[in-house]
Amino acid sequence: MLKILLLFTYMYVGTSNAILYDCFTGEPVNRTLLRIYQERDAVANCTVEIKPCDPTEWRRVDGSCNNLKYPSRGTQRTPSHRVLPPVFSHDYEPRKAVSGESLPLPRRLRTQLLLVGRTTDMKLTQLFSYYVLFMISDVLSSHDIINYLQNITTCCTPEGQNNYNCIPIKVPVDDPVHRFSGVRCLNLTRPQSFQTFKCLDNGTTFARIVFQTPLFDLSHIYEYRPGFINRLRTFENGLMKIEEEDGELFPPTDPNSNYCYQNQRPKETRCHMYQVNNVLGSNLWIILLYRHHNQIARELYRLNPSWDDERLFYTARDINMAISVQIYFYELLPIIFGKRNMIRDGLIGRGEGFRDLYDETIEPRMSDEYFFGMRWFHMIQKTNMKLYDKDGYYIKTYPMANVTARTGFFAVDNNMQHIIQGSFRQLGGTFDWTVDYDMADRLLGGILFSSDATTSDIKKGRYFGMQSYVNYKEFCTNRKYTSFADLKDSFSEEGLYRLMEAYKDPKDIELMAAMWLEKPVKGGRIPETLYCLLTEQYRRSIKSDRHWYERPNRPHAFTEEQLKAIRKVTIAGMLCAIGDFVTEIQPHAFFGISPSNPLTKCSSSRIGKLDLTPWKECN
Ligand SMILES: *[C@@H]1O[C@H](CO)[C@@H](O)[C@H](O)[C@H]1NC(C)=O
Ligand SMILES: *[C@@H]1O[C@H](CO)[C@@H](O)[C@H](O)[C@H]1NC(C)=O
Ligand SMILES: *[C@@H]1O[C@H](CO)[C@@H](O)[C@H](O)[C@H]1NC(C)=O
Ligand SMILES: *[C@@H]1O[C@H](CO)[C@@H](O)[C@H](O)[C@H]1NC(C)=O
Ligand SMILES: *[C@@H]1O[C@H](CO)[C@@H](O)[C@H](O)[C@H]1NC(C)=O
Ligand SMILES: *[C@@H]1O[C@H](CO)[C@@H](O)[C@H](O)[C@H]1NC(C)=O
Repeated sequence: MLKILLLFTYMYVGTSNAILYDCFTGEPVNRTLLRIYQERDAVANCTVEIKPCDPTEWRRVDGSCNNLKYPSRGTQRTPSHRVLPPVFSHDYEPRKAVSGESLPLPRRLRTQLLLVGRTTDMKLTQLFSYYVLFMISDVLSSHDIINYLQNITTCCTPEGQNNYNCIPIKVPVDDPVHRFSGVRCLNLTRPQSFQTFKCLDNGTTFARIVFQTPLFDLSHIYEYRPGFINRLRTFENGLMKIEEEDGELFPPTDPNSNYCYQNQRPKETRCHMYQVNNVLGSNLWIILLYRHHNQIARELYRLNPSWDDERLFYTARDINMAISVQIYFYELLPIIFGKRNMIRDGLIGRGEGFRDLYDETIEPRMSDEYFFGMRWFHMIQKTNMKLYDKDGYYIKTYPMANVTARTGFFAVDNNMQHIIQGSFRQLGGTFDWTVDYDMADRLLGGILFSSDATTSDIKKGRYFGMQSYVNYKEFCTNRKYTSFADLKDSFSEEGLYRLMEAYKDPKDIELMAAMWLEKPVKGGRIPETLYCLLTEQYRRSIKSDRHWYERPNRPHAFTEEQLKAIRKVTIAGMLCAIGDFVTEIQPHAFFGISPSNPLTKCSSSRIGKLDLTPWKECN
């Protein structure tokens, strides 16, 4: 009886039997709530419409119906998980130091704790950082950056001081760089939340809003916004719309878009109509994996001419997603997490077979600590990008900061080709205390005069309400840390000394500041606490995803042979397949070219390429 009553109060939308869900609570919207949202003009921002789930259907593009009990979990605007609850002072302003004073100025902390320079990692290529960026933009939207680049540009003016959404960064007068430039303020806006979009009342606990699906599902390629996928499909043989320019293939363009801030017009006009136009490394892989879809679809059609468009499209997409995750978990992450650590902690399997860790009681969500922790990788980004031609000859060096939000650059002067060649020939930045010049003082190229990724990281951590480093450390190790001396095993002597100079009490230490200096996890290359927080998320990503590619009993699951074929694919094989004019590459392309990892013809069996014959149906 109760159930029937409840059903009647759900808000059915149109005639499609779709139900309206509240993004924040994940519950169906009742009349009372609908009226409130209508009054606030917030229905579109705070709710999501979901057609009834079919347990046997493919992974939906909008992320819905992943969890059959909570169909809206997995869509855009799914609220974040918190490893530790947020802490603030009054009115959701940053927490204070133990002494009651404000925490140190973020820019001062950054200049005190980090060195600025350009270092080279003797092992890893630039491709490594590009792929990391690509994987983060699958789950994280850049709405906060767009907000201060496009919507609220006055944060450093007197007007901005009265704007609640502004949280400008103060630059000390004795700043090592800006005492010469005269800049006293860097632009930044408050992170957007469910409160910003009026989905929660003001004064309730800050809850960050994110516009990507909280799943590794290539939602930055297939477009997470409900219904948008139909604009990308041709509805013929599983293909997506693709355009050619300068001999290269790209996702559809919108020449009138104003999101490619740095396109040099009139020469550069290309700007993705649906995909984000963001930082270079991520944008490069968005273009490449978009192309990959069509390549897979064509081959599937050749093998199975009887398959219809729907089957070709969803199979190609499923393979594309699986490969992107396989490369990330099995090829990239072991380099910095340590393969043994990953096996021990259940992030990867030991053998080639299926794995099933699915737990329907865990909702698909990303943690704020994950998003925040991934910012640590700003430290390894090297920004002087080297371009090479297809025969491996060095052409020139180009500042990466100038290519942010500049999709047009890829489509002229064979730049796409040259960036790809450079990505596996140039070595990347090291994992140390050094941050690259342009990350520290330029970042957004010609869009803003100056900005500092690492200082913004500290400042954002405060507005995300991140707890003290020692609390996270306790979460990770189950031990208490009450004095600086308790931390001595996790830092070098100088590292700890620097933290003691910057903070008066161990409880004051901020998560990011500590991770800049913390020792790497045993057997890996990233800081211990970062390892712990990222692992916490990846475990949830695997357990909560009903469509996780390694599961034997998900809808349309791979066969054993098919999974094996997925596992053979490497980043080198991908570049051979979709990188323009890549004819030779080192087999382990996240590592530099060396005598044990030499340039090898793409046709060699040492290059892990995708073989789709296991998808051929016998008839
Ligand atoms: C409607 O939904 C809101 C929020 O989910 C809830 O607080 C309220 O009790 C519901 N009202 C009714 C009549 O069910
Ligand atoms: C949110 O709603 C406002 C109207 O209140 C609208 O202008 C805005 O575009 C919406 N934002 C999004 C992201 O849908
Ligand atoms: C920012 O501006 C764009 C258009 O300039 C608008 O579509 C968007 O809704 C704005 N976002 C917010 C949060 O105001
Ligand atoms: C919260 O405060 C902001 C800024 O003062 C205001 O624009 C917004 O309408 C308020 N939201 C609600 C739900 O009252
Ligand atoms: C990069 O951008 C800066 C700032 O707009 C500009 O001064 C510089 O000339 C640009 N460099 C190149 C190679 O285009
Ligand atoms: C802050 O933003 C304004 C408006 O876009 C810009 O004029 C100013 O140069 C920016 N400040 C810095 C330090 O980049």
